[in-house]
Amino acid sequence: MNGRTDEKRGMIELDGICKSYGRRNEIMALDRLSLKVHPGETFGLLGPNGSGKTTTIRILNGIIRPTCGRAWVNGYDVLSQTDEVKRSTGLLAESPGLYEKLSPAEYLGFVGSLYDIPRPLLQERVGRLLSLFRLEQRQDDLLEGFSRGMKQKVLIAAALVHDPPVIFLDEPTSALDPRASLVVKELVKGLSAKADKTVFVSSHILPLMEEICDRIAVINRGRLVALGTVPELVELAGTSSLEEAFMHFTGGKDSTDPLAWRSAVAST
Ligand SMILES: Nc1ncnc2c1ncn2[C@@H]1O[C@H](COP(=O)(O)OP(=O)(O)OP(=O)(O)O)[C@@H](O)[C@H]1O
Ligand SMILES: [Mg+2]
Repeated sequence: MNGRTDEKRGMIELDGICKSYGRRNEIMALDRLSLKVHPGETFGLLGPNGSGKTTTIRILNGIIRPTCGRAWVNGYDVLSQTDEVKRSTGLLAESPGLYEKLSPAEYLGFVGSLYDIPRPLLQERVGRLLSLFRLEQRQDDLLEGFSRGMKQKVLIAAALVHDPPVIFLDEPTSALDPRASLVVKELVKGLSAKADKTVFVSSHILPLMEEICDRIAVINRGRLVALGTVPELVELAGTSSLEEAFMHFTGGKDSTDPLAWRSAVAST
């Protein structure tokens, strides 16, 4: 008995999840969101700014509690089995805290030590992850002196160092150079195809999502508006690309003249 609630549940499952923010719960970030992610799947969450992607990922990692509904990760209830959920997941958060006075080697060693990984294995993993991201030359420098993209690489490594079954990546390539983006793309493909990991990823970079995701959920204003493979989404929208399908599902293309603000100033 491992305390899992139901082995038949999806590797990640949300059932009617709501989340409201604000003093009077007036900001409805998620509105009865239900999803089921299969084991070994790379699942994408797409949606406009403010549509609830980061909120979903934070709920699934036990960082914040939903206002209503239930969710499970790796068979564990995110509300009542938070420790088991955290042990099952690696998380690249959107705005993570990072220990600036540590070096990457120290930081990754610290994260790994939270998960009882034997010391020699941990050291080897940290070395290999740093070399994957070409950071081995800087492994003993303090993180406070790292560029944004370099920090992002360390944070991706930190999400992987304990080799969890479920990995959440919130905007993984947003600060990365093309070479590092390619590494992440190949990494995610390999985690799914060769290591049987379940990956839950949110990104606005549509070609990346198209290439790595088995299925994608499109959300808008906290609600699920479409779900399927990329060809299914494109067909459902009656469009010819994922970008057009995204526009279709999230309120159509903007018709506002992007320079209208200039004439408003000139006429006063
Ligand atoms: N701590 C908070 N306090 C108040 N409102 C919040 C908080 N966090 C999120 N929200 C609100 O919840 C909604 C969803 O935000 P969320 O960060 O989940 O969006 P997102 O889809 O990740 O957007 P982006 O693409 O910009 O990262 C937004 O309206 C946002 O203002
Ligand atoms: Mg976000």
